[in-house]
Amino acid sequence: MLEIQNLSKSFKQGEKNIEVLKDLSFKMHRGEMVAILGQSGSGKSTLLSILAGIESPDEGHMSFEGQNLGKLSEEELTILRGKKIGIIFQQFHLLPHLSALENVSLPLEIMGELSSSEMDEKAKRALQDVGLDHRENHYPNQLSGGEKQRVAIARSLVVEPDLLLADEPSGSLDEETGEKVMDLIFNLVAKKKKAMILVTHNKTLATKCQKTFHLNNGCLSEIS
Ligand SMILES: Nc1ncnc2c1ncn2[C@@H]1O[C@H](COP(=O)(O)OP(=O)(O)OP(=O)(O)O)[C@@H](O)[C@H]1O
Ligand SMILES: [Mg+2]
Repeated sequence: MLEIQNLSKSFKQGEKNIEVLKDLSFKMHRGEMVAILGQSGSGKSTLLSILAGIESPDEGHMSFEGQNLGKLSEEELTILRGKKIGIIFQQFHLLPHLSALENVSLPLEIMGELSSSEMDEKAKRALQDVGLDHRENHYPNQLSGGEKQRVAIARSLVVEPDLLLADEPSGSLDEETGEKVMDLIFNLVAKKKKAMILVTHNKTLATKCQKTFHLNNGCLSEIS
């Protein structure tokens, strides 16, 4: 489903060149759940941004369901991301001028396949699933950190993406809410045979995935 070959990424910081990912190769299949562990600053979020097509790699080849991502136009990437790849950003990235419900509806609008009442119904259900039906009309600055995270989760799941990229999705949640929300994510991914890359610092969560990788010195190594 997803294949990366010889991916490299560095950032220029003044005179310095920070090499974050070095010649990284990786493959995952449909229905597979993969966890990525790694120290803060090891490049986990950078890797997810590249996989999501938000950042471009310096070198390397990536394909998703047989399509070469490097060959897609900005518009084609936006459509692919909207329909097939769901992303839960570490920093949430909610749009401040949209309510919780409107943020969750956005991917459905980009998809453009449903009527407005159908979109509304789906978005409301997704918010309900993360326990936020009572916050539909709140704007991001009127939500707590954990509530923002749950809106971001609802937004990523509303289109039932083939691949979910989740960057510490329970990082801002208390233990109980975090467990509930993670169960929801795992159930959805497993039931619908979707694939997920889960970035986490939580080793117990990682054991719920079929494979665990460690990102260290710019490379991924599988932990068995
Ligand atoms: N736009 C940028 N410009 C310069 N350096 C960057 C940029 N984005 C990330 N970095 C650097 O790249 C490295 C990897 O960052 P990244 O956010 O991918 O780490 P991470 O593994 O997700 O860490 P954490 O667990 O803290 O979220 C860090 O050292 C960071 O400072
Ligand atoms: Mg990160």
